[in-house]
Amino acid sequence: MNQKLKLLEQEAKDAIRGVSTIAKLREVNSLYLGSKSPLREIMKTIKDLTNEEKKEVGMEINRFKAMITEEVEIKEKQIQEDLIQRRLETEEIDVTLSGTSFPKGSIHPLTAITEEIEDIFIGMGYKIAEGPEIELDTYNFEMLNLPQGHPAREMHDSFYINPNVLLRTHTSPVQVRTMLEEKGKFLKIICPGRVYRRDNDDATHSHQFMQIEGLVIGTVVSMSDLKGTLSELAKKMFGENREIRFRPSFFPFTEPSVEVDVTCFKCNGKGCSLCKNTGWIEILGAGMVHPNVLKMAGYDPDIYQGFAFGMGIERVAMLRYEIDDIRVFYTNDVRFLKQF
Ligand code: DAH
Repeated sequence: MNQKLKLLEQEAKDAIRGVSTIAKLREVNSLYLGSKSPLREIMKTIKDLTNEEKKEVGMEINRFKAMITEEVEIKEKQIQEDLIQRRLETEEIDVTLSGTSFPKGSIHPLTAITEEIEDIFIGMGYKIAEGPEIELDTYNFEMLNLPQGHPAREMHDSFYINPNVLLRTHTSPVQVRTMLEEKGKFLKIICPGRVYRRDNDDATHSHQFMQIEGLVIGTVVSMSDLKGTLSELAKKMFGENREIRFRPSFFPFTEPSVEVDVTCFKCNGKGCSLCKNTGWIEILGAGMVHPNVLKMAGYDPDIYQGFAFGMGIERVAMLRYEIDDIRVFYTNDVRFLKQF
């Protein structure tokens, strides 16, 4: 019987060595270890042996099984390695072939302008502040000196969530929030963000747009600081030889209030279609922070002074890139976006 096993073992080993695919290997494996293998036949005859012989043959059978299993494992590994080796040899990567290209995005013009303005102010020592787009009436109006029923509220008709909560109509409430948070500290902040108004959408109006707010609070801050700061902004945004002018205006949260114009950067002040032949282009509203606003936010107006300004980002972008319809910023038409 041992002789039989020996022969079988040699035969099995030869068979295993002879295969070259995993499928064939499995076949050979079940041929020699499976239910119909000659091994089974041998095992069936064990019952006729003496106990002594049973023990011996049993051990031989186990050895046989272990041997075949090991041979199969070694062969399997070898087949797999051969496979990888063959792929490595035959598969080549041609790095000179042109790849599949995919469209690359670009920075949205509103983001580009926002980042540019942020950079300018960070360069002057300002910090970036933030506030929520869903705002309390108190911060959006009340504490900016726009009490209930104030006629200036009319220009800020908004989307109300309840009588005390609305989508902010400007970034100015961030002034109040920052003052309340910083409790009497000197401040130099700008705040870019989205604002909302109940407006009819047309070429120059949108119910949602962006502003950048600015606020500086100290003990010696004057109108000339405001002018110097905005003049710097105008030069950096629209060109070195730009000039600005102040026109008197009204905002409830500033006193005095001004509208700020910059000399037209298209015609250099001579008059053209962009500046409607005036030579000047309005860019923002500003003023000295109203004493009531300071007081309500916990700053003593006898000690503290400050200036503030608010600028429409779309407006700046439209001027800069000569865009004539505000709606193109929001419609995600790639033909428009690709130009930046
Ligand atoms: N909040 C004003 C608006 O949306 C803009 C503005 C004007 C902001 C003057 C200011 C300011 O901080 O001083 O129309």
